[in-house]
Amino acid sequence: MLESGFARDEPVSNPTLKNSTDTAIPVLDLKRQYATIRAEVEEAIARVCESQQLILGEEAAALEREISAYLGVSETIACASGTDALWLAMQAAGIGPGDYVVTTPFSFFASASTIVRCGARPVFIDINPATLNLDADKVAHYLEHAPVRTRAILPVHLYGQCVRMDRFTEIAAEHKLQLFEDAAQAFGSTWRGKRAGSLSLAAGFSFYPTKNLSAFGDAGCVTTSDPDVASRVRSLRNHGSTQRYYHDEIGWNARMDAIQAVVLRVKLKRLPDWNAKRRELASRYDQLFHEAGLADPRPATLTAETSKPVRLLSTLAEAGHIFHQYVIRVARRDDLRKFLADRNISSEVYYPVPLHLQRCFTYLGYLEGDLPESERAAKEVLALPIFPELTSEEQQRVVSAIADFLS
Ligand SMILES: Cc1ncc(COP(=O)(O)O)c(C=O)c1O
Repeated sequence: MLESGFARDEPVSNPTLKNSTDTAIPVLDLKRQYATIRAEVEEAIARVCESQQLILGEEAAALEREISAYLGVSETIACASGTDALWLAMQAAGIGPGDYVVTTPFSFFASASTIVRCGARPVFIDINPATLNLDADKVAHYLEHAPVRTRAILPVHLYGQCVRMDRFTEIAAEHKLQLFEDAAQAFGSTWRGKRAGSLSLAAGFSFYPTKNLSAFGDAGCVTTSDPDVASRVRSLRNHGSTQRYYHDEIGWNARMDAIQAVVLRVKLKRLPDWNAKRRELASRYDQLFHEAGLADPRPATLTAETSKPVRLLSTLAEAGHIFHQYVIRVARRDDLRKFLADRNISSEVYYPVPLHLQRCFTYLGYLEGDLPESERAAKEVLALPIFPELTSEEQQRVVSAIADFLS
């Protein structure tokens, strides 16, 4: 279980922690983060309570401006969740019935369910085994023979590393497709120095409590520099209405609460430091695995092979990874997970079932074996504890335990 109690992102139940007198190492500990910001958060929430402006309002508008400035976009639209953000972005850009949207099968469910919610059809293309991100070359190959109904690409910046965005931009331009970003796991991440969320027509972010920038409940935002998309997202977020009780189209109630907005404003100021800390922790893990002889150094190219028992994912030279998750690949992953739990160390599996094999997508006609890299990754990935307050002693304990398991 996550220390915070927010376990919905936990796709398989954590093996019971037992048999250990060691203190628990959670995969994420939001209590430690809260201890560092308590006074400011309490003051900010009190401000909302006094104002009684509880939904959107000044605080959400201020958050939108601050996010736009940080990400380098002209518009941010605060909304109720990352799921709503993805739906709003695609719906506002005109994705609808009859359209095919290319995406990755190796992501959280909402990357594909929001395509369906627009009335469109997800097309799953396999991932690259080195980064586990949607493989641009496989997408290009698919598009050579794709139905004309293909309308858009929705890549996901998985675990906090941007996809090869220049390649996707090129592909989208060549085939006259809209390009979106699922940036739910990538707040502050960059590609060639530009931030995720500013690299496409429109992007969706999640501020779900386990995310690197997280609210005190569900929240999300859309970012775009297209004024037409922005104004339509604003209207769709509020029942398709720009003037109270007058509705131009059927939208949704996807508004952000003011309490979420003030919490996010407090955290946004610290995010650059927190992301830097995540990067430091990731390179310390890399170093510990390398020193223990368990892994080769992290590749900076799309090279996937290693003779070592732990495989580190590639971090591409153009990518400013923020390590929303620190993920390794190992054989006997489920046994390792149980072994770690016995030593009071939590871990997670993102994701145990690729989307093309989810029961609700049977109608799309995919079979086991169709997308082998995603299917293999689903059996091998393990996310280790990472959050800015994690100590180096805790990291040492995690790597020693993995070394013991593999010895
Ligand atoms: C890649 C990805 N897309 C979409 C979402 C949906 O965000 P939310 O949970 O805020 O609706 C999440 C987070 O859960 C995610 O990780």
